[in-house]
Amino acid sequence: MRVGVRFRRPHRWLMLFLCLCGASSLGALLAVMTAAQPSASALPAMGQASSANYDESKAGNFRLPDPLVFNNGKPVKTPGEWPKRRAEILKLYAEDVYGRTPKTPRRIRYKVFDDTQDALGGKAVRKQVTIYFPTPKGEAHEDLLIYIPSNAPKPAPTILAINFGGNQTVNADPAIKLATVWIGKLPVRQQAPETSRGRDKGFDVEKILARGYGFATICYQEIEPDFMEGYLHGGLREMFMPAGQTEPTGDYWGAIGAWSYGLSRAMDYLEKDKDVDAHRVAIMGHSRLGKTVLWAGAQDTRFAMVLANCSGRGGASPWRRNYGETLHSMSKAFPYWFCPNLLTYVGRVDKLPVDSDELIALIAPRPVYITGAQDDQWADPHGMFLAAVAAGPVYKLLGAEGLDTDQMPGINQPIGHTIGFHVRDGKHAVTAYDWDQYLAFADAHLKAH
Ligand code: GCU
Repeated sequence: MRVGVRFRRPHRWLMLFLCLCGASSLGALLAVMTAAQPSASALPAMGQASSANYDESKAGNFRLPDPLVFNNGKPVKTPGEWPKRRAEILKLYAEDVYGRTPKTPRRIRYKVFDDTQDALGGKAVRKQVTIYFPTPKGEAHEDLLIYIPSNAPKPAPTILAINFGGNQTVNADPAIKLATVWIGKLPVRQQAPETSRGRDKGFDVEKILARGYGFATICYQEIEPDFMEGYLHGGLREMFMPAGQTEPTGDYWGAIGAWSYGLSRAMDYLEKDKDVDAHRVAIMGHSRLGKTVLWAGAQDTRFAMVLANCSGRGGASPWRRNYGETLHSMSKAFPYWFCPNLLTYVGRVDKLPVDSDELIALIAPRPVYITGAQDDQWADPHGMFLAAVAAGPVYKLLGAEGLDTDQMPGINQPIGHTIGFHVRDGKHAVTAYDWDQYLAFADAHLKAH
């Protein structure tokens, strides 16, 4: 069954209010609202349902779908059969979860508007690039910030992160171009304020560079709005909307799909940059952007590694678990992250033909690291572990080792091989502890080439 889903229109009164405001009071309002934007690490756990279950005994009796069984019920027996099964899962994931991704553009255009040899006190080469790519409604663009370590062999393995508040939030470097961001959840955009520089404490660029990795980043707000009916406001989903269609229906892509597409376009550029080793690019994202990097890595095999921080439901946590956030609560707070088809599974999630173990398996045999946090039960760390375990047989089939255990580790005990996993103490955030594990994982898998 394929149905269209109508989203609410929460912004109408706000638009009216904005229109009635004089220019100066509008400016003041925008300044206040922008200043109130949360940093990634401090994002509130929006959409949390007070009725959520946190009792493991009530999480439900279910079996995760087996990634090694074809849609027709036949088992996948050899590595040679995997690409066919992989294509089946990818198609189901697109049809029923994130939506179909538009074709890769044949050509991108880009402009390097900054190429500075002695950035960050001589520690890095800094480049800033605007990437332009075609859509049915004209060219879209996004800004990519890149630091390449000065004293490391080139081309450098590179971590490409997708950030929340703008490229300028990842470091206090005053030369980073200020992003154009949405005013909270209003459908109005403006340049991010100077005060937002270096505000995202989830990144320690200097530390990453000191380990010999390049660091690149794009801002999700420059790709697709993160609010209800964002598809009306000039993001990629609007630009790809077929003529005559006025709202997403069926398998039309959600915001996560659009953000993932933005990562792939950044990769299009990185492939052309001689300082970056395009065969050793890891993608990293937190929370909704952890979901995004899993989907990006699942689709785009150019990404050599995926680092999914606290991705939770809609990411590495199985839809089938009734624990913390559920499809039901998500369908109310964040329906636009997914395709409308997903919402038809509310109340019958056991009928969803795929689940997150298969999302992880789509990345195999490339390394993937999944994290949770002890105080972030909303994201269901145990569920993420179960999905990582269930993806293991695909890694094994392809000659890699997954987690290599089905015992949930204790807090702050990283485990795994080609699938890495930990639950750290503390809350929903990206911390130095998380990065220490990511960099060790990258050393083990990306430096070996
Ligand atoms: C909410 C949402 C999560 C999401 C998180 C975030 O808490 O329910 O699914 O991961 O926001 O992106 O910060």
